[in-house]
Amino acid sequence: SRYSRITGTGSFLPPRRVTNADLAAQLAANGVETSDDWIVERTGIRARHFAEADVTSSDLGAEAARRALQAAGRDAAEIDLIIVATSTPDMVFPSAAAILQHKLGVAGCPAFDVQAVCSGFVYALTVADAMIRTGSASKALVIGSEVFSRILDFKDRTTCVLFGDGAGAVVLEASETPGILASDLHADGKHVGILCVPGNVSGGEVTGRAFLHMDGQAVFRLAVGVLEKAARAVLEKSGKTEADIDWLIPHQANIRIMQGTAKKLKLPMDKLVVTVDEHGNTSAASIPLALDAAVRSGKVKKGDTLMLEGVGGGFTWGAVLVDF
Ligand code: ACO
Repeated sequence: SRYSRITGTGSFLPPRRVTNADLAAQLAANGVETSDDWIVERTGIRARHFAEADVTSSDLGAEAARRALQAAGRDAAEIDLIIVATSTPDMVFPSAAAILQHKLGVAGCPAFDVQAVCSGFVYALTVADAMIRTGSASKALVIGSEVFSRILDFKDRTTCVLFGDGAGAVVLEASETPGILASDLHADGKHVGILCVPGNVSGGEVTGRAFLHMDGQAVFRLAVGVLEKAARAVLEKSGKTEADIDWLIPHQANIRIMQGTAKKLKLPMDKLVVTVDEHGNTSAASIPLALDAAVRSGKVKKGDTLMLEGVGGGFTWGAVLVDF
């Protein structure tokens, strides 16, 4: 049989680190009030990174990809599939993936974006796994990359304190032993209004509001339940139980959602990988960023079983169980 396995991870954060205190001071200058205490208590976020104005998702993603390639001992020329999960692509088209491919100095292999907002990475990993198992690819780069700072309204304190920029990547290769054990993806478009950027381009203009809009409490209420269901589905599909999970690596949106999911899966909190404190919510980039941080710090080791799970705009959600 043919399976896929992660053979290398990498990530990249833009250098500018903005603490809650820095952000509070910046917002205060616009008459918007917030505080480190409020942000830490409600979300667990202490700092985030923001890209400079000329840096795009393909720039951040290319750097994360180079690091993942190095970790896997692969050259970009060996890659035969590139998938980028992003909701903040460089342009309306072409895809960030096509632009990123060129930045890696290669050409020819298929490259495309997956748009599932904060569930983007679990969607992209599932697509790459399916393409590898069917034989249409053998060495894939799967990347999550975002510049959410571009779509934040810094006059809206209920959203602008939550998000950050960054990228994470994995190299996924064909293997005789299973790495991706199971995945479970969902969407329900009736919830479009609780988390969206309604703006678009038409007639040469931006039409509608091009800022992120979120009903935080509605998102919160939906998130914990669907994440538990998706996690249980991948356990069942792979014949595993909660006790087999070495690390829970959820989308890093809010520490309370993450702890709520860990509790529902009866996992001790020390099995939860947390980077939201330093990264904020980086949407499709958050899971591969957290994975790479956990690999490089020595937490996640070869052979560990990882539960990756994401939830986001759409509404979309899903989980992937991985033998690392
Ligand atoms: N600083 C200070 N006060 C604030 C801020 C802020 N940044 N933001 C809101 N407040 C105030 C509100 O105005 C409100 O004041 P009021 O009571 O006087 O009206 C008070 O704080 C409480 O606001 P709530 O919205 O009720 O706060 P809540 O406890 O629900 O926390 C939060 C808000 C953190 C957004 C929470 O709802 C949440 O985490 N939701 C999930 C969001 C999420 O995870 N989204 C991402 C998932 S999908 C994706 O990643 C794209």
